[in-house]
Amino acid sequence: MSPPNPTSPSKTWTKTADRPLRSRRQSLGIWVFAHALGVPVPWHAVRQTDARGLLAFEHERLLALAAAGEAVPPVIAFDGHSLVTGDIGPTLAHTLGQLPESERLAIMCAASADLAAFHARGHWHGGAQTRNLTWDGKRFARLDFEEPLLPGMDLPTVQLYDALQLLFSLSHMLEPRGPGAVLHVLQAYEDAARARPYEAGLRPDLQAFLAHLLPRLRWVSRVAGWSSRLNRSRELRRLRTLLDGMAAFVASADAA
Ligand SMILES: Nc1ncnc2c1ncn2[C@@H]1O[C@H](COP(=O)(O)OP(=O)(O)O)[C@@H](O)[C@H]1O
Ligand SMILES: [Mg+2]
Repeated sequence: MSPPNPTSPSKTWTKTADRPLRSRRQSLGIWVFAHALGVPVPWHAVRQTDARGLLAFEHERLLALAAAGEAVPPVIAFDGHSLVTGDIGPTLAHTLGQLPESERLAIMCAASADLAAFHARGHWHGGAQTRNLTWDGKRFARLDFEEPLLPGMDLPTVQLYDALQLLFSLSHMLEPRGPGAVLHVLQAYEDAARARPYEAGLRPDLQAFLAHLLPRLRWVSRVAGWSSRLNRSRELRRLRTLLDGMAAFVASADAA
């Protein structure tokens, strides 16, 4: 991805088929992460080998999402080798870092609710981390649509994967606030999803999914804790905060 041209009147971004593809090792990392989260991503979807095919896929996705009225980068040019898109502002990862601590949780919840609304309209992201979202103070927009997860997986599972990717990308911001903040973010997704009609059988059931996943993640966290170095690591602290928040979210469903 080449950065925007500072001399051009409107900022643009160019993605080309020349850029290095994900290595086998990175692909394996993503595959293991997804499977550990109970999301059965197919290996061929993670191990990307056809750069031109991926760019064409992203181009098609951008056109389809824009036609559906979704906030995505406008396609300025595509010739099979380069994809030029218009700038949609700074990423949420960046913006959150600039905000005072006291304002962050509300935006994290708004991002989570916005993802649920996007899902309820029948869409999926395939990379819903905060680095692939922008927020201008009023509206969220999404970018980076080169993950060919559909077809090959079912829509509700891919949407659950989106929700987890967003949550994990927020973990460093959530950890200092504790499990209650994680619960808020999950609840924001759930409330927004429940407020909208879904076609029969297509609503992603985040609570059931997490209830099933929690014991497995607890096990990962316990085993990792056997190493005193890992036990003290930031990553494990963040994971444990997420797990406690997820447990509270699952318990809130049981209580309801
Ligand atoms: N249209 C755009 N508007 C704003 N920022 C963009 C745009 N396209 C890319 N970026 C920036 O470039 C980064 C990488 O682009 P992305 O499409 O996510 O490629 P990658 O597949 O390498 O993750 C994004 O995280 C974002 O910071
Ligand atoms: Mg990206």
